[in-house]
Amino acid sequence: MNSSENSPLVKNMIKLDGQTALITGASSGIGEGLARALHRAGANVVLVARRKDLLEDLARELNQVRSGSAEALSADLSIARSPDEQLLGLEEISAWIRGHSIDILVNNAGFGSFGPFHSLSIERELEMVRLNIEAPLVLTHAVLPQLLEKNTGGIIFLASIAAFQPIPYMATYAGTKAFDFYHGLALRSEYRNTKIRFLTVCPGPVQTEFGGVARVPGEMTNIPRNSVDQVVREVMRAYSRGSSLVVPCFKAKFLAFLSAYVPKRFSTRLTEMALRSSLPKGKFV
Ligand SMILES: NC(=O)c1ccc[n+]([C@@H]2O[C@H](COP(=O)([O-])OP(=O)(O)OC[C@H]3O[C@@H](n4cnc5c(N)ncnc54)[C@H](OP(=O)(O)O)[C@@H]3O)[C@@H](O)[C@H]2O)c1
Repeated sequence: MNSSENSPLVKNMIKLDGQTALITGASSGIGEGLARALHRAGANVVLVARRKDLLEDLARELNQVRSGSAEALSADLSIARSPDEQLLGLEEISAWIRGHSIDILVNNAGFGSFGPFHSLSIERELEMVRLNIEAPLVLTHAVLPQLLEKNTGGIIFLASIAAFQPIPYMATYAGTKAFDFYHGLALRSEYRNTKIRFLTVCPGPVQTEFGGVARVPGEMTNIPRNSVDQVVREVMRAYSRGSSLVVPCFKAKFLAFLSAYVPKRFSTRLTEMALRSSLPKGKFV
């Protein structure tokens, strides 16, 4: 049993029986944790990511434990249309959303990169922009008409504390998360007279596959990280309350507070100095 199942916060959580949640990036980390929590709350879940085997294993597991159904859709959300018949693209997932009844969209799939900008692959940086910005934009646009018609449901945006200030050596990633942060909060305000929930989530470092995918250097992977369970618990509580923003866990809240008061040029410079020491040799500018 997942430790978050015992939490009193989870026990008092919103009931989502009969609702359907589509979660992007559900094959690992925060997305997998949120898919499990939404399913536990009674929702039918649609799991989206590229790794079909992981999604199908999770769907099989969830289908065995509770009444809410679980379905796997293998898709690469960084491309419009996939040449591979087994893999859908962003346009196809968007069309799928329009053709099905969805109550909750979790825009979670995302990745980062680390290093001096000129040393990073421009194709990979563009892939990040497409996954972290274009995919949530397109999927949110696809689901909103039916949420407005039903006047219920919600959208969860996975931003990051990286959205609060420029992050040298993770410049593109921080820029994409700033987009997710402002977009989520702005939409919440646009639709404030509806019953649709818009929740923007800004975690600090979390124990997931993120560091490995971003090729974050070893020293940085030793910094304390929150567990997926801790983050998921705070997200579910915030969604239940109808909050617009949640910065899960104390340390991230403290960093968010600091970044609101420290001038950006100082915090950016300090971050640059701190992260420069983690750069692989020969990558100094
Ligand atoms: N971990 C952290 O420290 C942290 C902190 C703040 C915010 N976040 C944000 O939280 C979100 C989830 O990250 P995580 O930490 O849980 O990392 P993770 O364990 O690496 O999970 C990322 C998920 O995104 C999916 N994904 C990656 N590329 C994709 C693509 N092209 N198309 C479809 N799905 C794709 C991955 O599945 P496949 O590989 O199977 O496609 C995986 O399910 C991200 O938006 C991240 O920016 C993370």
